[in-house]
Amino acid sequence: MDKILVHGGYPLSGSIKISGSKNSALPIIAATLLTPDPCVLRRVPDLSDTNYMLQILMHLGAEVERASGTVTVKAEKVNSVAPYEVVRKMRASVCVLGPLLGRCKEATVSLPGGCVIGDRPIDLHLKGFEALGAAVRVENGNVKVFAPKLTGAVVNLQGKFGPTVLGTDNVMMAAVLAEGVTVIEGAATEPEVCDLADFLNKMGAKIEGAGTRRIIIEGVKELHGAEHDIIPDRIETGTFLVAGAICGRGITLHRVRPEHVISVTTALAQSGFNVATTANSISVSPNGAHTKPLELTTQPYPGFPTDMQAQMCALLATTEGTSVITEKVFPQRYMHVAELKRMGAQVEIEGATAVIQGVERLYGAPVMASDLRASAALVLAGLKADGVTEIRRVYHIDRGYEHLDEKLSELGAHIERVKE
Ligand code: UD1
Repeated sequence: MDKILVHGGYPLSGSIKISGSKNSALPIIAATLLTPDPCVLRRVPDLSDTNYMLQILMHLGAEVERASGTVTVKAEKVNSVAPYEVVRKMRASVCVLGPLLGRCKEATVSLPGGCVIGDRPIDLHLKGFEALGAAVRVENGNVKVFAPKLTGAVVNLQGKFGPTVLGTDNVMMAAVLAEGVTVIEGAATEPEVCDLADFLNKMGAKIEGAGTRRIIIEGVKELHGAEHDIIPDRIETGTFLVAGAICGRGITLHRVRPEHVISVTTALAQSGFNVATTANSISVSPNGAHTKPLELTTQPYPGFPTDMQAQMCALLATTEGTSVITEKVFPQRYMHVAELKRMGAQVEIEGATAVIQGVERLYGAPVMASDLRASAALVLAGLKADGVTEIRRVYHIDRGYEHLDEKLSELGAHIERVKE
């Protein structure tokens, strides 16, 4: 197993290109199951999560070709059963349920594992399938959904913690081949939902309103093949912006969509960093003055993303003053805090709130990655810390960041990957 060593204290400068979005690529790869025709996806990031998703598709009968960032999928024949062995590694594998139900009118998918960020139910996904006329059974660790016919319906997917991203994706993917019109109320508005809707529309679907709280889907008889470029990864963008803020002299990120990370760039600007954007690049640099603590609350898009909360904790750990972060999407998502404290951070968790007392310096320490974004936070803290930070279980990082260590090295970080 690999571990990452970060030698702290080296300033970052220069520029890198941001990769395609993991969270867009996963449901879009799943959506290729909706047609027997070939689909071509470009800018698919080379990650263990996208590889798992492609393996699941191959298990379901699809032919897959991958040449650098371009993936071609041809799902001429599809079987509708995804057992535990193929889905267990990734929670997002649940998003094959919608397209399988749409195409085969039945699906059996084992309940997946994935990120350990609290209780992650799929009740809203199932509520949506039931509204379309599907019967749902959960037995022996499997979810079975089946419907002789899917019929358009009105369904509200707003949950206790807000809308559901993959739930919206799943119901949208089932509804595109339903008879009649489906209206998803309380839909997630994340850019990844819009990217999926764009791809489905290129395949011949009739979807309106993606990006708003109401999505209207007019069912069609069949979909055809399509080509699509995956949008830039807004969480990778945000993570590198924090890297630039935490110990940068000035870095620039290319191939980004600045409009997707406004909550992050606004927070950095409020804290006192210079942030400059063009249509497809963002630069961040210190402005020479003291940085300020922040009060942040994670929210569904366009609010501050839960997937950036851990990285922001790492930044605020060394920002003078008291910062407060409240986690409204996954209230238990604070696994990184215990590890940051081992590096000298002063953070107290009170319910879903983290109170961070900025310290002057962090110290390198052996730490354990516990989930994808928590691992990124430990790398960021390591960039700033005195000495060497040794991060174990880096397979979490490889799930969601394409060549994170290489890109940081390009910017001047002293970071190495070694075998344990
Ligand atoms: C997606 C992202 C993940 C991000 C999350 C929130 C992918 C592959 N993953 O996950 O990186 O952190 O959005 O932005 O795109 N919930 C229910 N019932 C459900 C579904 C969700 O109660 O049926 C709750 C969840 O526990 C959570 C909240 O709703 O509190 C939001 O979760 P959701 O948007 O569904 O997360 P994912 O789509 O799984």
